[in-house]
Amino acid sequence: MAKRPVIIDTDPGIDDALAIAIALFSDELDVKLITTTAGNVSLENVTNNALKLLSFFGKDVPVAAGAPRPLIEPLVDASNVHGVTGMEGFDFPEPKTELLLKENAVNAMRRVIMESEEPITLVPIAPMTNIALLFSMYPEVKGNIKEIVLMGGSASRGNKGVMSEFNVATDPEAAKIVFDSGLPVAMAGLDVGWNALVYPQDSEKIREMGKTGDMAYCLFKKYRGGSFGTGLKMYDSCAMAYLLCPEMFTIEETFVDIELRGEMTRGCTVVDLKGYLKKAPNAKVCTAIDGDKFREWFLDSVSKCI
Ligand code: RIB
Ligand code: CA
Repeated sequence: MAKRPVIIDTDPGIDDALAIAIALFSDELDVKLITTTAGNVSLENVTNNALKLLSFFGKDVPVAAGAPRPLIEPLVDASNVHGVTGMEGFDFPEPKTELLLKENAVNAMRRVIMESEEPITLVPIAPMTNIALLFSMYPEVKGNIKEIVLMGGSASRGNKGVMSEFNVATDPEAAKIVFDSGLPVAMAGLDVGWNALVYPQDSEKIREMGKTGDMAYCLFKKYRGGSFGTGLKMYDSCAMAYLLCPEMFTIEETFVDIELRGEMTRGCTVVDLKGYLKKAPNAKVCTAIDGDKFREWFLDSVSKCI
């Protein structure tokens, strides 16, 4: 069966690193391009991290750097979670700088999408600034996009604000452009990310899974998305799980909008599961996850990496 062509938009980021690994070594996905955006840490660091990962994995996927900051507000990063460099804890090889395109992320995405014989799936696992700029500058790309499968948002509470998830809260206007795009959107938010946990016994198994397992274990010791002892949250891998093992999720089609003006709720995803707003559905929202199935899938996926 032909592999599904994807573009990953990312801000590595420890959980991004594992999601990228799973995608690169999956026999179902063809990663055509990796684009980077400021988010967990600065654009320079996330881009460097993407190039280090490709060097480590020995994969020659082109990388294009994108937005250095959100559309409206200054960047407030998550270096408290991922460390100053964004991937603390492991001594990676030098970044494979020859993979870095001169094109910026938006132009690279447009080229790859318009050249693709098969409609492309966009997989944003970061603030959605690049995607919003792409749709604003080149709306014609929508004609060759199959789906947007994103990690972001929450039908419940937040992890950046009281009610707002980091990727959406970092750039709410960008997220609104994506949810309003008219394209099929799948949302893997905190409702599943919080239960996509890697427990200590899983980390010990992962540690024995070759190069990637050893690297992951080292990063997990530094990762502050959850705790090594009670469970590390593999947020971004939920987007890959939606593509590769959707049956682990409970999925509800509903209307989602982004709060832009709330004094205390800006960046909140308003997930209208009960239809109060009487708007047509614009997203498939993952509202629950089978945690055991996730762990089994995650371990199996990491075992397929080098
Ligand atoms: O809220 C979790 C998201 O924020 C993940 O993508 C993580 O990498 C951070 O970017
Ligand atoms: Ca991320």
